[in-house]
Formats: sequence, structure tokens, C-alpha cells
Amino acid sequence: MPSPPLLEVNDLYVRFPTPAGPVNAVAGVSFTVSAGETVAVVGESGSGKSVSSLALLGLLGSGNISAGSVLLRDEELVGAAPERLRQLRGSELAMIFQNPMSSLDPLFTIGDQLVEALRAHRPMARRAARARAVELLREVGLPDPERRVRAYPHELSGGQQQRVMVAIALTCEPALLIADEPTTALDVTVEAQILELLRTMQREHGMALLLITHDMAVVAEMADRVVVMYAGRVVEQGPVAEVLRSPRNPYTRALIDSIPTPATPRDQPMPAIAGSVPTPAEAPAGCRFHPRCPSVLDRCSEAEPPLYELRPGRASRCWLHDGALRAGPAPAAGEVHHVA
Ligand SMILES: Nc1ncnc2c1ncn2[C@@H]1O[C@H](COP(=O)(O)OP(=O)(O)OP(=O)(O)O)[C@@H](O)[C@H]1O
Ligand SMILES: [Mg+2]
Repeated sequence: MPSPPLLEVNDLYVRFPTPAGPVNAVAGVSFTVSAGETVAVVGESGSGKSVSSLALLGLLGSGNISAGSVLLRDEELVGAAPERLRQLRGSELAMIFQNPMSSLDPLFTIGDQLVEALRAHRPMARRAARARAVELLREVGLPDPERRVRAYPHELSGGQQQRVMVAIALTCEPALLIADEPTTALDVTVEAQILELLRTMQREHGMALLLITHDMAVVAEMADRVVVMYAGRVVEQGPVAEVLRSPRNPYTRALIDSIPTPATPRDQPMPAIAGSVPTPAEAPAGCRFHPRCPSVLDRCSEAEPPLYELRPGRASRCWLHDGALRAGPAPAAGEVHHVA
């Protein structure tokens, strides 16, 4: 029997209060991550990727989880005590954010920050923690770690800072590392190095990786499975190779078409999808992607399609799949519909 997933997110809704009333930034998101696996969550800016990952960690600020379930090794995290979530963030779960400078404290050396992180997880003499800090910096490929351990964050390049963030995340030897756009602030060469580092660390430490990105090229490079999000909804999911080879949702296809190829002229902007993701308050009636969709049908502005399960582990939210359905009442948007 396959082992149960490490993380199981089920029909998650996240609500934020706004002056115009509450809005759902994430609406019915479900996915799983198994031990050792890399799952990518991809979508344009504003699709709800960060809100989803912050919700898993209990870090929503003014927002709250209004429905759904998040199971970590069968433990329910929705409604768990803040103290328990804090404990899990230092043991089972670790995270890396997009901008290392906002996560590193400018007033302390990176050595001090690593020592503090190490000692927060388990009792450890300062000297031993210091030695482990140098070892971790060596492991993440920071040059000259004995000297760099005394450096302040501003004395390091963006890529080096991000290596330090990876080292800090590894201090608790997490079962699941959540990396939210870990390379967006970096140039392409350094991006490739950090992605390679994440892959190596994942292999060596046996971690699962939940990788949040807006870049399909990063998905192709890194992930086993992909969850495509649009305006707070999951619109497609499946194994990466399959989704890239034959995307079933027009939004996924558009994201794939925006991957630059060697033939793409470097001096031209990336081919992007015209228009932008609506905010939760402005989400149109019907399919949320319909105003931008090249395959739009009349029906798409009238009702939102359900997530069609095309086969186990492969799903897409689009009325185009309806042809495969037997006649019957139109399914509701919130349901998962099994294609016969
Ligand atoms: N505190 C908040 N209050 C109200 N709305 C919010 C809040 N945080 C996020 N949102 C809204 O939720 C939606 C999803 O935001 P989120 O940050 O998850 O997007 P994202 O997919 O991570 O985008 P990006 O690629 O830009 O990081 C956005 O429309 C955003 O405006
Ligand atoms: Mg984000």
C-alpha cells in the first residue's frame, strides 16, 4: 500500500477582511505532498500561491482559514494552537522566502543567526552550534565559511544571502521545506545555482519540497508534480512531464507558451498572457480565466466549471472537458467531477 502523504491539503479556503467585506483569496485548494517529493505551485502574480503556503504555516496575519483541512502526518493544522504551529515550524516545516534581506536580521552576523536557529531547535552548547553553523555554510556552498560566519547580511550578495536562508531552513532538518519564489530576486546564473542547491539538499536530507513559483521553466526543471493556480483556484494538476507535454487547461497552456526557448530573442520581453489576474473581489462570474482565455465559450461567462478529474492524480478545471461527460445536470464549481 502506498504510504499516506506527508502533507494533505483539502478544500482550503482563506478569507481576508477588506473595507468592501470579506474576500476569499484562496477558494477550495486541494493537493498533497509525499515524503521526499517536489511539488510546484505555479501561477501568475496574485493567483494565491503565497496565501496558500502561509495558510499551511499558520502565518496569515489578518486573514483566516474559513474552511478546509491541512493534515501534516495526519495531524490537523487548521485550528491547531499557535504554540503547536510554532513548534512545527521549527521542526517539521521550514520555509524560505523570496527576499532574503527581509528575513535576515541586518543587525546580527549570519553566524549569530544560524547559532540562534540551531539552539532554538535543540539544546546545544554555543561552541558546538558555532561549529555546526560553519559546517552548514560549507554545505550550502558559501565560500570561505570560517570567515563568512562573521559577516553581516549586507556584506553578502543576493545569491549568498539566499544560501544562508537555505542553511537556516536546514537547521531544523525539516520533513517539508516550503520555498516561496526563492530565486525571483536573483539573476539567471545564480538562480540555477540556488535551484541546484535546493535539489542537492533535498536529496541529501530526504526532504519534501513545496516550491512556489510563477515560472514554468523552474517547474520543468525541479518538480515531480505541479499544481497550477489561477485567481485562488486550482485549475490543473498532475505529473510535471505529462502536464508540460499535454496541458489540458488553456491557462496552463498559456503559461507553458510563456517559457522562453533558445529561439526567443533575449532583448525582447517574455511573451506573457495579455491582461492580469483579477483580485478576489473582482473575480468575474463564470470561469475566472474566461476574459483572457483564447478558447472561451458562451458558457464560460455563465458558470464556473468544476475541477474535472481526468484520471487519478490528473485534473483540470475547464468546460472543454464537458464533452466527455454523460448528459446530466451541470456540476457545481466547487465539486470535483469524475470524467466517466
Ligand atoms: N492581507 C491581505 N488582505 C487582502 N487581500 C490579500 C491579502 N494578502 C493577499 N491578498 C490577496 O490575495 C490574492 C493572492 O495573493 P498571493 O500573495 O497569494 O499571490 P501570489 O500568487 O503569491 O502572487 P505573487 O506571485 O505576486 O507572489 C491577491 O489578490 C492579494 O491581493
Ligand atoms: Mg507570492
